[in-house]
Amino acid sequence: MPNVKRIGVLTGGGDSPGINAALRAIVRRAAAAGLEVVGFRDGWKGVIEDDVVPLGLADVSGILPVGGTILGTSRTNPFIKEGKEWKPTPKVDRILETVKTRKVDALIPIGGDDTLGVAHRLASHGVRAVGIPQTIDNDVAGTDYCLGFHSALAVVTDALDKLHTTAHAHHRVLIVEVMGRDSGWIALVGGIAGGADVILVPEEPFSVHDVGKAIEHRLESGRRFSIIVVAEGARPVELGGKPVAQEGRVDQFGHPQLGGVGYWLAGELEKKGLPLTPRVTVLAYLQRGGVATPFDRMLATRFGAAAVEFVLAGKHDVMTGLRGHDVVAVPLAEVLAQSPKPVAREFLALARNIGVR
Ligand code: F6P
Repeated sequence: MPNVKRIGVLTGGGDSPGINAALRAIVRRAAAAGLEVVGFRDGWKGVIEDDVVPLGLADVSGILPVGGTILGTSRTNPFIKEGKEWKPTPKVDRILETVKTRKVDALIPIGGDDTLGVAHRLASHGVRAVGIPQTIDNDVAGTDYCLGFHSALAVVTDALDKLHTTAHAHHRVLIVEVMGRDSGWIALVGGIAGGADVILVPEEPFSVHDVGKAIEHRLESGRRFSIIVVAEGARPVELGGKPVAQEGRVDQFGHPQLGGVGYWLAGELEKKGLPLTPRVTVLAYLQRGGVATPFDRMLATRFGAAAVEFVLAGKHDVMTGLRGHDVVAVPLAEVLAQSPKPVAREFLALARNIGVR
C-alpha cells in the first residue's frame, strides 16, 4: 500500500500472555519503516469511542514477557445478529469516523475469531485490517498456533504436575476443569502433556458411565488415583450433549458463559458410589495469566512484524498465520468459514492410543 503513514492497533476478547510482545514487535517494526502507531483502548470499544493512545518505542519498552495487554480489552461488538446475519449498528459509523479523523491507514486487531470477525465485516465498509490470531483457545482456523495457547498450556501442565502428587497421596480422583470455550485444544494438549488419565473435550460427547469404568479399570490394575481433565465446553450425554453453562449469561457475540462441568461430574461420580473420592480444581483465569513462554514471545514477534509488513505490502482483510515454519497472510473470509477450529483428530487418536480415556 503506497504511503502508509499510521497504523492503529487494538486488542480484543480474552487476554493472554504474548499480546504485549506482539504490540512491542508492531511498534518496533513500524518504527523501522518510519510509520507511526496509535493504540485504541479496550478492543473495538476504543475505536468506537476514539479512545486512543500514542504507542512509541518508550511505551513498549519492557513489556515483552508481561501478560495481559497494556491497551486493555473488551468483548465489544459493533454488529448485532439478526437471524443468521451480523448487521451494522451506529457504532460502525463511529469506527469509520475515528479511522478517518485519526488518519489511520490500516488497523492491526489482535484477538480471536470474534475480534477478527469484526475486522472482516468492517472490510466491506472500507476499513483495512491485518489481524493477529490470539486466544488461549487456539480455535482460530488458518494458523497452526494462536498466540497465547502455548502459555496457557504451561499453566495447565504445571497444575497437573502439582495435582498428581496429592491425588497419589490421598488415592483420589482429581477433576481439573480447563478453559477453551467450544474447543478442546487446551484440555487435550494440556492433558497429554500433563499425563492425565481421562481427557474430556467438547468435540466428543462423554458419558459418566464411561468415565467411571475408566477409573475402575485403573483401580483393578492397582492405580489408586486418577487425573481427569475436562474442558469447560465438554458435553455429557446425560445432559443431552449440552455443555454446563451459567444461566442467562451471554456475551455480545452470543457466547454463553461456560463453567461448572467439573463439579457436575464430581457429583455424578459420587452418586455412582465410586470407591475413590472425587475432588475438583477449576483453573479458570490462571490460564490467561502469567508470563509469555519463549514460544509465544517468538510467535508474537513474528506475527507483529509480519502484520506491519503485510500492511506495507497492501494486504488487508487477512491475518497472520503460522503454517509450519512460515508466517503467511490468510484471508479472513477463509479463517471465519472454518472457525472455531476443532481439536486435531490425530491428537485425539494419540490420546486414545496411549490408553487415555
Ligand atoms: O476465549 C478465551 C476464554 O478464556 C475462553 O476460554 C473462556 O470460555 C472465555 O474466554 C471466558 O470469557 P470471559 O473472560 O469474558 O469470562
